[in-house]
Amino acid sequence: MKKIIAFAGSSSKNSINKQLVTYTSTQVLGAETTVLDLNDYELPVYGIDYEEVHGIPDNAKKFLKTIQLADGIILSLAEHNGAYSTVFKNIFDWMSRIDGKLWNGVPMLLMATSPGARGGSSVLEIAKNRFPFMGGNIVAEFSFPSFNDNFKEGNVINENLNDDLNIAIKTFEDSL
Ligand SMILES: Cc1cc2nc3c(=O)[nH]c(=O)nc-3n(C[C@H](O)[C@H](O)[C@H](O)COP(=O)(O)O)c2cc1C
Repeated sequence: MKKIIAFAGSSSKNSINKQLVTYTSTQVLGAETTVLDLNDYELPVYGIDYEEVHGIPDNAKKFLKTIQLADGIILSLAEHNGAYSTVFKNIFDWMSRIDGKLWNGVPMLLMATSPGARGGSSVLEIAKNRFPFMGGNIVAEFSFPSFNDNFKEGNVINENLNDDLNIAIKTFEDSL
């Protein structure tokens, strides 16, 4: 069976992006999905001086290894000031020091959500433009707007959004 990893680009314990990837991962058929949490891969803030003195921390190696063993990736990015959250950018930077093609060419369902009407579109756009240079194979993308209005008790309650999300999930499944 194909192995999928799912995680949010957030360290919030109430992360709405984690709620979205968790829900999405239950909808993917015919694959074994593991939901990961960036809090389990704590890292120092990336800096060239730190790297020269201490090397690359084990947690960056560990997370990259997990990506390299996966047949597919579901990622939902939190948007902070129109860009990646610090915790995501940090692990991304660390992993890029080990392997510039860190996404490993496996199919990725790339998502973002926020409480606002734009649903993290800015960070989604940044990732969409950048990941293909780094082994990213984004087969489907999804921006989920106004999370708190459209997602309740673990489910998508807006029918149109649910239909669109199902289309993205199906495209991802078919590419595995
Ligand atoms: C420092 C900071 C900056 C933020 N900037 C944005 C933003 O640019 N666009 C947006 O839609 N939401 C923004 N938000 C709100 C986040 O979308 C919201 O906190 C969301 O819950 C983050 O996702 P998470 O729950 O998965 O961590 C910001 C929040 C913080 C704390």
